[in-house]
Amino acid sequence: MHNTTIIKQNFQVSYNYPIYFSTSCFAPENNLIIDLIDNLDENPKILPVIDSAVLDTNPKLNQQLLHYFKYHQLDILETEIVPGGEAVKNDPSIINRIHSRVETDAIDRHSYILVIGGGAVVDAIGYAAATAHRGIRLIRMPSTVLGQNDAGVGVKNAVNFNGRKNFLGTFVPPHAVVNDFSLLNTLQERDKRSGISEAIKVALIKDTLFFNQLYQERYRLAGFEEKAMQQMIIKGAQWHLNHIATNGDPFEYGSARPLDFGHWSAHKLEELSNNELRHGEAVAIGIALDSIYSNKMNLISENDLIKILTLLIDLGFELNPAVLTKLNIKTALCEFKEHLGGNLCITLLNKIGEGFEVNEIDEAVMQLSLLAIPEYLNKLSNLKNKSA
Ligand SMILES: NC(=O)c1ccc[n+]([C@@H]2O[C@H](COP(=O)([O-])OP(=O)(O)OC[C@H]3O[C@@H](n4cnc5c(N)ncnc54)[C@H](O)[C@@H]3O)[C@@H](O)[C@H]2O)c1
Ligand SMILES: [Zn+2]
Repeated sequence: MHNTTIIKQNFQVSYNYPIYFSTSCFAPENNLIIDLIDNLDENPKILPVIDSAVLDTNPKLNQQLLHYFKYHQLDILETEIVPGGEAVKNDPSIINRIHSRVETDAIDRHSYILVIGGGAVVDAIGYAAATAHRGIRLIRMPSTVLGQNDAGVGVKNAVNFNGRKNFLGTFVPPHAVVNDFSLLNTLQERDKRSGISEAIKVALIKDTLFFNQLYQERYRLAGFEEKAMQQMIIKGAQWHLNHIATNGDPFEYGSARPLDFGHWSAHKLEELSNNELRHGEAVAIGIALDSIYSNKMNLISENDLIKILTLLIDLGFELNPAVLTKLNIKTALCEFKEHLGGNLCITLLNKIGEGFEVNEIDEAVMQLSLLAIPEYLNKLSNLKNKSA
């Protein structure tokens, strides 16, 4: 007989953090950021970490930031500048550098790291912040469309490892998120566009009205008109946040990953392109592929499929880059399954606005769907030419 004692531990932790949408957050009279520092009496330290591309295109930003905190009588540490894009997630020495700053500047758990950058920088610095002293408060200021409507608002942080996407990471919510729309002005067109795919993704799996709104606004979005872009970002962020808060699995213990619609192939395409493809660009292709598959499996109608592809094409997404020929469906599905940590779980579409999950993919049909992408592009371009 084994003598076994069991104590069942059980406690709940509730998380609260605000997500602001604003402009000109470093204008001295804008109190938004300073009001987020809720322990001013402790004179907490603040370490700014900024994406180099943000500073290159906005050279006055660091000065504005220093002036902002001086105006509010708060000391600020010297800014750490990090490379943007996947480079920051691929280079472990950068995480080391942030950890070293935490050590040498004696940044404690009551201090703040203020990160300004694209989704990649926010992901990587979030990981560094979450692992130093088991968690330093993080204020995120995502500076891309994708960062503001998706990557920057959630609970995940990650870096790549040995070329494998998001292999190391944490589930740690931020202290706060400040989406400053002014930061988006300096983005290249492809980065303004790429983030729109994550809004299309949530619309397709959750919200028909939102999809229709994106469809109707597609030419305004293609021209990056401010109002259309801001509405798309807010609604996209809202759906991502709503999902995390209400789906019952914010830290993804199960295998289901409904928000990853279109992502199993997207992750692989990013790798295969040596990160030449942006995450959002790869997601647009992944959405096209899984929508075509959903149609071939008699789930969504041809009409719905044409609408989805039209939206992606009219926004200017390139849905048939050369790298697509390198996609091995079996390998990509296998790696996605490993990343999920259990059963294969892929979101498909029943109709526009309604995603559901399957645990099996018919690889032959998926292969046909892949081959159908150029066929659909031709078909749609012919239709356009005819109606012009
Ligand atoms: N944590 C999550 O939940 C989550 C969700 C989705 C995506 N992601 C991750 O986000 C990353 C993609 O993020 P992204 O689409 O923002 O791309 P990105 O971070 O790679 O940025 C794209 C490029 O824009 C530059 N840049 C950033 N802000 C700029 C600005 N304001 N002006 C000029 N240039 C600027 C960057 O330096 C980079 O070169 C991927 O690594 C992806 O895995 C994470
Ligand atoms: Zn994504």
